[in-house]
Amino acid sequence: MLEKVPKVVVVGGTYVDMVIKCHQIPPPGRSVTGSALSYTATGPGPNQAMEAALCGCEVHLISKVGGDPFAQMALDSLTELKVNTKHVYAAEAKNTGIIVTLVNSEGENTSCVYTGANSALRSEEIDAAERIISEADVCLIHGRLPHEAIVQAIRCATLYNTKIILNPVRPIEQPMRTSGDLPMEYFSANILIPNLYEAADITYQSDASIRTAKLIGSDLVARGAACAVITMGKRGCMVVDRNSADHIPAFEVELVDQTCRGDAFAGALAAYCAVKDDVREAVKFASAAGALACTKFGSIEALPTKAEIIELLQKEEME
Ligand SMILES: Nc1ncnc2c1ncn2[C@@H]1O[C@H](COP(=O)(O)OP(=O)(O)OP(=O)(O)O)[C@@H](O)[C@H]1O
Ligand SMILES: [Mg+2]
Repeated sequence: MLEKVPKVVVVGGTYVDMVIKCHQIPPPGRSVTGSALSYTATGPGPNQAMEAALCGCEVHLISKVGGDPFAQMALDSLTELKVNTKHVYAAEAKNTGIIVTLVNSEGENTSCVYTGANSALRSEEIDAAERIISEADVCLIHGRLPHEAIVQAIRCATLYNTKIILNPVRPIEQPMRTSGDLPMEYFSANILIPNLYEAADITYQSDASIRTAKLIGSDLVARGAACAVITMGKRGCMVVDRNSADHIPAFEVELVDQTCRGDAFAGALAAYCAVKDDVREAVKFASAAGALACTKFGSIEALPTKAEIIELLQKEEME
């Protein structure tokens, strides 16, 4: 008998990253000559969707691009990686979200993020994807989008009993507002996956450290979250629910480039949760994905496949 293909719907921002390599990052008022240029579709939406697709899921992305040539570029990359783009809307009068990055010869970078069309994702557009959300096993949401769109996605997924995984960060249209004022709907997610700094920000904890992670996680659970997974880079994750708090260590890997680690983690976590209800095992699987993303240069090209993740998990078990 054929196994059912797990379904994941990702709600997240889409960007095109324009990377220029140069010998030195120029100070204000100066200009330098670039030596290489590349454009890549990126952002939490495409990256997390692609990771879930690489883990064998049927994936739909809900996002928004502009009316410029970058929009088609982003759509083509998504289609190439088998992500369904029926609900990637186009705001014709806006620009696609753009990140301009300069990388110097030491590999250090500076970037500027222009949110563009991402700030125009509306709740009606989430409603238009109601059937997709209702049929999905998991709805994975990244917080840097307009608050009304996120709240609507949470409401819709709740209505159809679709599991919600949310990376809570400040909504795009209120950068000055503190995350502590997040709408209460955010805390009805099944799993919250902030990194340590985002989690500290939400809970007004000034000491963001591995020592306070348990406390911060308990605070998120007290606010209503069924489970909080606080990611701490190479220091692993703290998984907190009503019953316990467990530290899940990170995998030891050779660090090449950390870009996309958080998105690899989130996409793989959603893929695992779409199949099984075991958060701690899901976090181990996702941690392997996050670690593997650090071993290759680049963003989308660095995302690991399900086979690579399983290989790392098995290697660890044998040690
Ligand atoms: N250097 C590393 N070595 C091993 N595993 C790592 C490393 N960095 C990240 N990971 C794994 O990936 C998970 C997510 O990473 P992290 O906490 O850095 O996310 P993030 O801050 O949200 O990243 P991003 O800025 O990409 O969104 C970690 O909890 C860990 O399991
Ligand atoms: Mg992150």
